[in-house]
Amino acid sequence: MTLYSRITGTGSYLPPRRVSNDELAQELAGRGIETSNEWIVERTGIHARHFVADGVNSSDLALEACRHALEAAGRSAAEVDLIIVATSTPDMVFPSSAAILQNKLGIAGCPAFDVQAVCSGFVYALTVADAMVRTGAAKCALVVGAEVFSRILDFNDRTTCVLFGDGAGAVVLEASDTPGILASDLHADGSHVGILCVPGHVSGGQVLGTPLLHMDGQAVFKLAVRVLEEAARATLAKAGKTEADIDWLIPHQANIRIMQGTAKKLKLGLDKVVVTVHEHGNTSAASIPLALDAAVRGGQVRTGDTVMLEGVGGGFTWGAVLLNL
Ligand code: ACO
Repeated sequence: MTLYSRITGTGSYLPPRRVSNDELAQELAGRGIETSNEWIVERTGIHARHFVADGVNSSDLALEACRHALEAAGRSAAEVDLIIVATSTPDMVFPSSAAILQNKLGIAGCPAFDVQAVCSGFVYALTVADAMVRTGAAKCALVVGAEVFSRILDFNDRTTCVLFGDGAGAVVLEASDTPGILASDLHADGSHVGILCVPGHVSGGQVLGTPLLHMDGQAVFKLAVRVLEEAARATLAKAGKTEADIDWLIPHQANIRIMQGTAKKLKLGLDKVVVTVHEHGNTSAASIPLALDAAVRGGQVRTGDTVMLEGVGGGFTWGAVLLNL
């Protein structure tokens, strides 16, 4: 039995259309909605986000991210024996975006499924893939976060539509004799469903309820900072490590103030936190693998570094993964 799983390649993809705060503010002004670059930067740290073109789906973004990750790992799609896609904005109700992605990769036969844990989706997916690799069920997995949140934003609600963006990130996770994933810690508390949700659903040929994102920002903020600290500490304890062992913290890129709050509670300097929210906005399940790939390709995070990934999102769900790159 394989003892460990390890990330051997990372990749990401952003749709080409970059929308600055000023551009978004101008578009919203056309709807009679007032916002400004200053407000968005001060409250969130976001300067821009990327939005997909019509007809582009999560699996299309995932495909590009996977191609880059496979190239970085020196693997071909034919070697992949497991695909897990974390998404809350799947291409369709079913089949899964993972099955659609598998076909776009030109392969067939290996298990492929989606994980729905909103912004925690990637840490959930990575934890499941790690377990499958360690039990021998897979040797070379693609673990992906892919989202087209622009499709579920209410552009008449300035408190939410300025926060999110589209994109995808992926890793190749392989069986390894040396430790990669060290420990993980996942949680959910369904009593908080109402503070962050897209209540719309398909029924009898119609969409019932609003198919647009609803969020109580302040309730989410408070909960997020608390659970992110708890998840990080629990994961460190499981791995027999302390905060001092963390080379890089890669939190879900929701809001710079949540990230600053979490880093402070963990007594980590901001120079140890990977930040991409300024250019990506909140890309939900895609945000962590997008940030990881940006940090790897930018030369910040290097092979051998100890990295803490942390997600938190609708459900409420949260969790963390500690790994050696
Ligand atoms: N532009 C200008 N003004 C705005 C905007 C905007 N885009 N949005 C809200 N305002 C106004 C409000 O109407 C309010 O005005 P009022 O005082 O006249 O009533 C004022 O700004 C303050 O609003 P608050 O909601 O109190 O602003 P707050 O400081 O809480 O910031 C925010 C809002 C950014 C959403 C914050 O609550 C937050 O970061 N929450 C965390 C939520 C988050 O990041 N979620 C991401 C998804 S969840 C996840 O990924 C974990």
